[in-house]
Formats: sequence, C-alpha cells, structure tokens
Amino acid sequence: MINPKNLILYITFFQIIVNINCQQYVPKGRVFHTSTLIGTRIYYLGGQNNESLLTNDFFYLDISKSFNKTKDSLPFVNVTLGGSVPRHYGAATTVFGKSKNSIFFFSGDIGALQNTIQLIYTLDTTQSPLTWKNMAVSENEVERRRFLSAVTDNNNNVYLFGGGGGGKFGDTQYIRYNTTNIFDSTKNIWTHGTIDNTLLKREGHTATFLPDTSEIVYIGGCGNNGLIDITNAHVYDTINDKWNKWETKNSPEQRCQHTAVLTNDDRIIVFGGANALKSPVENYYVVLNVKTREWYHGNETIIEAPYRGHTATFYNNYMFIAFGQGTTQQASNDVLIYKIGDYANFTEVDYYNRVDTTPFKDNILIGTTILSIIVVGFIGFIIHKYNKSKQMKGMKPPIDTICTP
Ligand SMILES: *[C@@H]1O[C@H](CO)[C@@H](O)[C@H](O)[C@H]1NC(C)=O
Ligand SMILES: *[C@@H]1O[C@H](CO)[C@@H](O)[C@H](O)[C@H]1NC(C)=O
Ligand SMILES: *[C@@H]1O[C@H](CO)[C@@H](O)[C@H](O)[C@H]1NC(C)=O
Ligand SMILES: *[C@@H]1O[C@H](CO)[C@@H](O)[C@H](O)[C@H]1NC(C)=O
Ligand SMILES: *[C@@H]1O[C@H](CO)[C@@H](O)[C@H](O)[C@H]1NC(C)=O
Ligand SMILES: *[C@@H]1O[C@H](CO)[C@@H](O)[C@H](O)[C@H]1NC(C)=O
Repeated sequence: MINPKNLILYITFFQIIVNINCQQYVPKGRVFHTSTLIGTRIYYLGGQNNESLLTNDFFYLDISKSFNKTKDSLPFVNVTLGGSVPRHYGAATTVFGKSKNSIFFFSGDIGALQNTIQLIYTLDTTQSPLTWKNMAVSENEVERRRFLSAVTDNNNNVYLFGGGGGGKFGDTQYIRYNTTNIFDSTKNIWTHGTIDNTLLKREGHTATFLPDTSEIVYIGGCGNNGLIDITNAHVYDTINDKWNKWETKNSPEQRCQHTAVLTNDDRIIVFGGANALKSPVENYYVVLNVKTREWYHGNETIIEAPYRGHTATFYNNYMFIAFGQGTTQQASNDVLIYKIGDYANFTEVDYYNRVDTTPFKDNILIGTTILSIIVVGFIGFIIHKYNKSKQMKGMKPPIDTICTP
C-alpha cells in the first residue's frame, strides 16, 4: 500500500510537472516578424508562421535569467493582450517614450497594401493589460509599406525609411520608397526627411542608429535594379537632416533581408541576407567598424542558421537570432545565440549567461527591422486574393516582384 502522505506528495509533484509543461509557451516557427528589446525582454510580434498564415502572436523571451537551451526550453512568455494589431508580416518596430518603455509598430503587409486605417499602433509595456493602441494618421501622410526600417533617435523621433508597398489607393504598381517619414512622438507631428537625389529606392535594408552622433547607418537592401551598393553606405544625419555617404573598406557581398545590431564598442554586426540569386550570402557574419569604416569578416562558417526573415537582438555581448528562413527550414522556431567577440569573432553557444555583463549602454534599442521576402505559396495566395478583389478599396497592386535583382 502506498502511504497516503506519499501519495499526496506524488500528486503534488505530478501537478507541478504538468503545470510547468502547460505554462511553457512554445511559439510556432515564423518569418518576417519583428523583435523589440525592452529591458530584459525581447518582444516578438507577428510574422508569417510555418503554415504560411499571417499572425499577430505577441510574446517575449525573458533574458532576465540565465538559461541553457540544451537542458531547458527557451523561456518564452505569451503576452495576454487587451487589444492587438492586424495579422501581418514585414512590419517594423522601434522603442520610444520617455523611459523607452513603449513599442512603435508600423505597417507591414496585412494582405492589403493600400489600407491606411490599421497602419500604426503603439503599446506601453508598463500598462496592464497590455494593449496595442491604433494611432490615427491623416490620409496620404504615410503610406503602408513592408520591409522598411524604423529607428528612434535620442529625442524620441521615429524614422521610417524605404520599404515597398502599394502606393496610394488606385495605384497599380508595386512601389519601392526612398522617403523618410519622421514622427516626433513628443509633439505628435509627422514630417518628411530630405531626399538626396542619389538615394535609391529600397526595401530589405537595415537601419542602425548611432546614439553618439545621432546618425542612422543604412546598409544594403534591394532596389528596383538589384541589390543596393554596400561599399558606399548611405548615412542620415538626423540633426542636420542631411545625407552622407560612407566609403567603406573591405566590404562584403551585397545583400538584402539581413539584420544589423550595434555593439557597445560601435561595431555594426550584419547577419545573413540573400544575394542577387535570392540564395544565402556566403559570409553570414560581417562587421562594420563605425569608427574606421572598415569591414571585418566572420572567423567561422555558419551552417543551419536563418538568412532572411529572422530578427537580431543584441544584449550584453549576446546576439539572439530568432526564427527566420534557413536553407533547410522554411520557418525556424529556434533562437540561435551568438557570443560576440572582438573584430568579427564570435561563437555560437547553447546558453545565455546573465552574469556575463559588460558595460551596457542604455537604449541599445536599435530599431529592429524586418526584412524579408514571402514564400512562393503566399505570393500565389495574394495574387489570387488580389484578382478576386480588384474592385475593392484597400487592396494591393500586383506584387510583381519581390526584390528582383
Ligand atoms: C508548425 O509548427 C507546429 C508547432 O511547432 C508544428 O506542430 C507543425 O508541424 C509545424 N508545421 C509545419 C508545416 O512545419
Ligand atoms: C547546458 O546543458 C548541457 C546538457 O545538460 C551541458 O552539457 C552543458 O554543459 C550546459 N552548458 C552550460 C553552459 O551550462
Ligand atoms: C497567447 O495569448 C493570446 C492573447 O492573450 C491568447 O489569445 C492565446 O490563446 C495565447 N496562446 C497560448 C498558446 O496560450
Ligand atoms: C527618390 O524618390 C523621389 C520621390 O519619389 C524621386 O523623385 C527620385 O527619383 C528618387 N531617387 C532615386 C535615385 O530613385
Ligand atoms: C572565433 O572567435 C571566437 C571568439 O573570439 C573564438 O572563441 C573561436 O574559437 C574562433 N573560431 C575560430 C575558428 O577561430
Ligand atoms: C579576432 O580576430 C582578429 C582579426 O580577425 C584576430 O587578430 C584576433 O586574434 C581574434 N581574437 C580572438 C580572441 O580570436
């Protein structure tokens, strides 16, 4: 006979196990989602899931504690919401607000590329329950687009640059942009940045804000005539509303739909990307030294990592590469962890160690850009949808082309 006391113990123990299993949220694989770092939470939103459906899933990876991927499941937490954003892919998010606690969400493709009603949402992560609030913007002020970039400067201005979309209602072409929409989140005012005549229209590029100089470094992407030059990077000076060109040394392969993060010592780590043939670039891990404008090339070959539609988040010398499309996976459900070394040295690790701290600058909240291409099946779906609803307001023009180099 089992001692009743033990029985209770067994039951309690069993319940704990069941509870733990039930509570651990395991997100589906996805591509073209966004990631936003606030404090020690990396918030993930939306994207196209591994069954080719658009999502508005919202959850975070808790990096307030160490974890070991080999032993435990990733510490994801599903966020309970009061209100959500439309299901989408290819949107852009950035952090803003006085204490950098809010997320600014812009656009993406919601299955209609000319819909300007459900365009912008904000969420204050300190409020409960968390609620995405729709921000009204006057018609024709900002056009819906996908694969653009969003960053916030030191004065809480949000810069939306580039991207591709359907233009205004009635336009029948797929349009790429070279415009910058600036949102002053303190005064609630929209303006446009100046346009340099040589500024090619692009999508699938990255934007990295340099807090020390208030410049935004734009890297790569694809334009109407192929990949964008990576050797002469376009840099936007937010203080003087002026474009500059950085001539860089030892530049890597041109690429599109890669990610970029800024390290504490002013290096921009570019990860992944698709080449002109839409295949993975050869060198996944390349680093631009902002001070010398010299590129370093990774010291290891990366295999089995996503190259597009992933996100990259940097925290305490770790880089988290989340989800995305790889050569063997259409929509990964994994988070790869890279421990960042000097130059372009790095090591892929299966753990995150919270105490590995290095001086950490506040606000390394580099806007996360979502860069991507849709999978073939989805294009079919969209074209089908478009054909079915040509007459309807808010639909999209034919997507001829996703970055045809
Ligand atoms: C998508 O992910 C879910 C959960 O991770 C899994 O059960 C399902 O088999 C996946 N589907 C495809 C098409 O990979
Ligand atoms: C992570 O867990 C695996 C399996 O238990 C173990 O071999 C490895 O040493 C652990 N890594 C760290 C950094 O603790
Ligand atoms: C995650 O949270 C959302 C919003 O609160 C909810 O609708 C959804 O069912 C949750 N998903 C899981 C798997 O718990
Ligand atoms: C940039 O966009 C403007 C406005 O659409 C356009 O007039 C100009 O030709 C574009 N520049 C390039 C190099 O495409
Ligand atoms: C690359 O650099 C990392 C970090 O410095 C180091 O741990 C690793 O051994 C290096 N790999 C190679 C192949 O040199
Ligand atoms: C990192 O890379 C540089 C240049 O590629 C090399 O000189 C240095 O020894 C490497 N450091 C480590 C720790 O691997």
